[in-house]
Amino acid sequence: MRYVAAIDQGTTSSRCIVFDAEGQVVAVDQHEHEQIFPQPGWVEHDPEEIWANVRRVVSGALDRAGLTRSDLDAVGITNQRETTIVWDRLTGRPVHNAIVWQDTRTDSLLKEFGAPEVFRAQTGLPLATYFAGPKLRWLLDHVPGLRARAEAGEVLFGTVDSWLIWNLTGGPKGGRHLTDVTNASRTLLMNLATLDWDDDIVKAMGIPRAMLPEIRPSVEVYGEARGELAGVPVAAALGDQQAALFGQTCFSPGEAKCTYGTGSFLLLNTGTRPVASTHGLLTTVGYQIGTGPAAYALEGSIAVTGSLVQWLRDNLGLIRSAEEIEALAASVPDNGGCYLVPAFAGLFAPHWRSDARGVLAGLTGYVTKGHIARAVLEATAWQTREVVDAMLQDWQGSSLSQLRVDGGMTANELLMQFQSDVLDVEVVRPAVAETTSLGAAYGAGLAVGYWPDLATLRSQWTVSARWTPAMDAGVRDRELAQWRKAVQRTLAWV
Ligand code: G3P
Repeated sequence: MRYVAAIDQGTTSSRCIVFDAEGQVVAVDQHEHEQIFPQPGWVEHDPEEIWANVRRVVSGALDRAGLTRSDLDAVGITNQRETTIVWDRLTGRPVHNAIVWQDTRTDSLLKEFGAPEVFRAQTGLPLATYFAGPKLRWLLDHVPGLRARAEAGEVLFGTVDSWLIWNLTGGPKGGRHLTDVTNASRTLLMNLATLDWDDDIVKAMGIPRAMLPEIRPSVEVYGEARGELAGVPVAAALGDQQAALFGQTCFSPGEAKCTYGTGSFLLLNTGTRPVASTHGLLTTVGYQIGTGPAAYALEGSIAVTGSLVQWLRDNLGLIRSAEEIEALAASVPDNGGCYLVPAFAGLFAPHWRSDARGVLAGLTGYVTKGHIARAVLEATAWQTREVVDAMLQDWQGSSLSQLRVDGGMTANELLMQFQSDVLDVEVVRPAVAETTSLGAAYGAGLAVGYWPDLATLRSQWTVSARWTPAMDAGVRDRELAQWRKAVQRTLAWV
C-alpha cells in the first residue's frame, strides 16, 4: 500500500494527516502553537515554532500510522491564509513574528494605497486589513533596515505555504521560494486575470518585487522534501478554504462549501472566469491544476463563528466545553427575542466594516442563558445566510441546490438544522470530515499520478449526514428582518 500525506498549518494548530487511496484517514497528529497578542487588535505567531510543530506532526503522523517516509508518494500543503512572514534568505531566520490574518494593525495604513476600486478590479479583493500585502508593507515600514535588505534581495516574503515549502525543500540550502495561486490571490498583490504579481499594485503598496515568491499552480511537483520527508515530492499547495473546496470535490460551477472553524468561509466554484463582486464578496482563485486554466470562486469570509462559542465558554463562562452549547441551546424552544451579532473585530463579508462592534440586542428580563446560547448558534447561521444572499446576487446563477459543510461546528445538529432552515437549502456533511487536509492530499496525489483524475476523487465523496429545510417561510422572513435590525446596530455603534 502507498499513501499521501497532507500538512495543514492552521490558525491555532498544525496537523499532519496520512490518507490512503480511498481518501480515508490513516493517521493524524496535531499540535497547537502560541497565539501572541502584543496589543489589542494585534495577533502574531512565531514562524519558527510553526515550522518545528510541522516537523513534529509529520513524524508523529507517520509513527502513528506505522509508516516511514518511503511509504508516501507525495505530500500536499494547506494553510491558514494571508498570514505574513518575512525571513532572511541566508540564515532562514524570520525578521519578525508572523502577522496573522485576524490582525488589524494596518487599518490606518490602508488609506495611503489609493482607490479601493482599483484594488478590487485587479485583485478581486476589498482594501482591508485581512490581506497579506498591507501586513508586508507594515513590516517594511517598522522593522529597521528591512526595506533596504528587501531591495538587495536579502530577505524573502511568503504566506505560510511559502514558508513551509521553502523550509521543506532545503531552506537556506536551495529551498524553493514559491507560492500557489490560491494563496497569492489573498495578498492584494496578484492580478486575477494574469495570475501574476500586478506591477502597478505592487508599486502602489511600496513592496520591493525582489522579495516576492514565484506564483505556481496549486497542483504541481514543486520539489523534493528534505529532512523528515526526505525524497517525498512536495506536490500541492492550497489555502485552507480552497483546499476544503477541493476536498469537498466542488469541481463544477455552482457547487459550494462552507467550513465552520474559528470563522466560517463559504466558497462557490464559478468556473474558469472570475466573477466580480458588487455585493461584498471576494473573488478568489479556487485552484489551478498544472498549466490548466484556474478555477475561480466567490468567497464569503465570516470572521467570528466558532470563536463565538469559545467566547461564551472562556469569557462568559456559560458553558464548560464547546459541545455543551447544543444542550444549553436546546433547553429553550427559541431565542426568546435576542440576537447576538459578533462584530468583535468589525464585520467581514458582506459588510467589510472594521469599525462595527458586537451587539446583543432584544434583551428583556425573560432572556436566559439558554436563549443566549441559541442566539450564539443562530449568529453563525444568519451570517452564512447574508453571505449566500450576496453570492446569489453576484453570481446570478441558478439558486444554490445544496451546501456542503465541514469543520468542527458541523457536529452540532441543532445548528446544522437551523442553517438549512434559514438558507432554505439542503445542507450535507461528507463522510470524511477532514476536507481541508483531504483537499491538499488530493492535489498532491493528482500531481504525482497517485489518483488519475477528478472523476475518481468525486466518486470517493460520500454523505454522512443531511439536513433539509423545515422552517415556515413566514417565520424565516420575520427572523431575518430581526437579524438585519441587529446588524444595523453594530454598524451604528461607532
Ligand atoms: O483566511 C483565513 C483562513 O484561511 C483561516 O482558516 O481554519 O486556519 O482558521 P483557519
